[in-house]
Amino acid sequence: MKSTKNKSAQEILSSLTIEEKIRLLNGVGSWHTYDADKKIPSVMMTDGPHGLRKQEDSQVDINDSAKATCFPTASCIANSWDLDLIKEMSGAIADQALQEGVGIVLGCGMNIKRSPMCGRNFEYFSEDPLLAGSLAAAYIDGMQSKNVGTSIKHFACNNQETRRQTSDSIVDERALREIYLRPFEIAVRNTQPTTIMASYNKINGTYTCQNKKIINDILRDEWGFKGTVISDWGAAVSIVDCIKAGLDLAMPDSHGYQIKLLLDAYQKGEITEQEIDRACLKVIEVVLKTTGVKKTTVDYKKTHDLAKKIAANSAVLLKNDGLLPLSKKQKEILIIGQMADDVRIQGGGSSHINAFTSPNAIEALSRKGFKVKYVQGYPGDDVVEITEPTEIQRMAQEAVVAAKEAADKNIPTLFFCGLTNRTEGEGFDRKDINLPHEQLSVINKIIEMNKDLIVVLYGGSPFAVPFADNVNAMLHMYLAGEASAEACADLLTGAVNPSGKLSETYPLSEKDIPCAGNWGNDSPGVEYRESIFTGYRYYETFDVPVKYEFGYGLSYTKFKYSRLEISSASYNASDADEAIGNVGANVGYGEKLSKSKTNLKVKFTVKNSGKVAGAEVVQLYVKNPASDYLRPVKELRAFTKVYLEPGKSKKVTIELDSKAFSLYDVSTNKYIAPTGTYEIEIGSSIKDIKLKKSVKVKGVKYERDDKSKLSSYFRKIKLFTHADFVSLYGKDFPVDEEPVPGTFTIYNSFSEAARLNKTCKKILDKVIERIKTENRKHGRSDNDPALKIVIGGLTENPLEAMILLAGDDFKRNRADFIVNLVNKKRFAALKSLWSKKWD
Ligand code: BGC
Repeated sequence: MKSTKNKSAQEILSSLTIEEKIRLLNGVGSWHTYDADKKIPSVMMTDGPHGLRKQEDSQVDINDSAKATCFPTASCIANSWDLDLIKEMSGAIADQALQEGVGIVLGCGMNIKRSPMCGRNFEYFSEDPLLAGSLAAAYIDGMQSKNVGTSIKHFACNNQETRRQTSDSIVDERALREIYLRPFEIAVRNTQPTTIMASYNKINGTYTCQNKKIINDILRDEWGFKGTVISDWGAAVSIVDCIKAGLDLAMPDSHGYQIKLLLDAYQKGEITEQEIDRACLKVIEVVLKTTGVKKTTVDYKKTHDLAKKIAANSAVLLKNDGLLPLSKKQKEILIIGQMADDVRIQGGGSSHINAFTSPNAIEALSRKGFKVKYVQGYPGDDVVEITEPTEIQRMAQEAVVAAKEAADKNIPTLFFCGLTNRTEGEGFDRKDINLPHEQLSVINKIIEMNKDLIVVLYGGSPFAVPFADNVNAMLHMYLAGEASAEACADLLTGAVNPSGKLSETYPLSEKDIPCAGNWGNDSPGVEYRESIFTGYRYYETFDVPVKYEFGYGLSYTKFKYSRLEISSASYNASDADEAIGNVGANVGYGEKLSKSKTNLKVKFTVKNSGKVAGAEVVQLYVKNPASDYLRPVKELRAFTKVYLEPGKSKKVTIELDSKAFSLYDVSTNKYIAPTGTYEIEIGSSIKDIKLKKSVKVKGVKYERDDKSKLSSYFRKIKLFTHADFVSLYGKDFPVDEEPVPGTFTIYNSFSEAARLNKTCKKILDKVIERIKTENRKHGRSDNDPALKIVIGGLTENPLEAMILLAGDDFKRNRADFIVNLVNKKRFAALKSLWSKKWD
């Protein structure tokens, strides 16, 4: 290595040839940057985010990686609302990265949960931008404090897995700013993540990696992002446009293809050396920042214990009619449910951690001193398709008999169930919010004769619990990592008091979801017609009943709230735009709160009035004044977690600045706080408001001239029409049409080609069959979630992305062949097959 010591990024850049500079803009192998013939170090990046997924280039199976601690997934830890805990977690992941020589962990995932049915929601935090942004900022802080880089993802509007590589998220400016970009803005302005990963999808007609407005104008110029923008794996199609728009690094290695495109463009004068230097400098900077950090040695026992602590602090107690915690006098318990034996600890896909083994729920509860009887109840996810119906019935019957016997003998019965790897995962969306039917049919039979059931739930996103009224207790573990079962045993026995609160709403039905009908469809354009009314913003504003509301969760103790004081009954909020970088409060990531003396001080007391110690997530909502413009009825503006011994109380002070009353005004491109009477609400959930007081805000007189155009937005969301949305959008509306022969390009996908051309369909079917046959040889079923990702990639990626990802297996001449075939240019198609131009 020619030493880079004491050399600035700029000096290194000056020492590179144009070829080296261009080569630096594309990865080497799956996970490394280029070392410019040893002139600079190469940094390794690996997936996370809830552990380290370090793969060698030779390891192609997504589940094959070095062993690492598997922490709770994002959707699980989000329920802790605990910023310190998440910092501890990412710090521990950073230690493992350092031990393994990894410089950047690809995380955290932080997209807004537009629909609870997005297959990848388990990798994301919340439906609320303040909560998602604050948790992400904590994750970044924890990791970067150990000098390991982060890559927050997937920037942005990547809110569904259906057609994830090509779908166009059509979002109006206000929803874009207030909902979908806001969490990233909080993270960037407060913590400067090392890198940010640009997503696969398009935003308002342009692929994110080529989206100058998103990458350059907003992320860099407005928010002041100083780090490096990298592409999601295979997302940098049309590389020249990407670099010009502000992308710095295209991942992974395109086996020379992108280098050739860039060199050609440079030689033709289509991209300048300055444009290449700009991106190159960002790559060198990140390499210098994330290499040469001292290694650490990890104590895996300690990290396992941390994983257990986080899991226990994140689980949500949804119901308790008195059977929990289990009585100390209880000697025997009955456990029903295959998921107790094979606990689902994480989701599938690129975030899959090769976890250390740990006890399952049967073992963990046995260790607590119970005599455990276990009955499987239903087949496991991986064999359900090949299990005979008679065998499924036999299992159910066995469970019913055991549950009846337990009820007769007063032995507590625990039923374990939840979403499985086949129901949710990367690369596909859910079609409904139901649990697998084989689980539901058993529980329905059991509750007919045993109403004292305790249910333990798993899953990375909300699902329907039609049995809730007929069981005694429900503890939701989410996807709680390798120590899930031990944490569960601690919670069930009361060794730990549950303190998680839902970071997302549980709807009653999929029909109630705000984007229902306008999400996850097999169409190129996705209209975000519900605009700013995501999650609770919709349910609360339009009075739609839900099963469990945002912020909900029970405890084994009780908390009393009292003595709300607000420093002033009126507030001058004229500085809203100055407060743009703030989160609006002094708690969490509110360190940058306006220094103004006029900040509102909200004070109140929380007391643990029960008999056991516990923690309460205190939520501050601001109820907005009634208005004739679009505005959610209330919004989360601050939160903090308070730990209290029994009988103890704590005075909480939350300072608010004008950001807590603001909205994004699209006519001035600024945050403004409209004048009006607001209500400060302190709650234990969004519905369970304990204290409130109003405050008169003197801000901007906010008048919109689109009241009549938007009138239907004030009625039920189902009435939002395409025409309404076009007028709300207010600019040239992106036209997303399926390609037809003559318009097909390498930026279209194989599945689109197959729809248009019989030969392409035959080729695609054949390739899919070959992949399935190979998969079956490894004893895996055609419904295997990892297989779904591979087939999804093959069918949905733009053809150019396949060139980037497939190496020798799919070169440009094959893509050209397909393009020409679809465009009915048969001779050109054959010619492209023989072409050596791209070899
Ligand atoms: C995923 C990213 C991941 C990358 C590398 C992509 O398909 O969307 O989240 O970091 O692969 O594995």
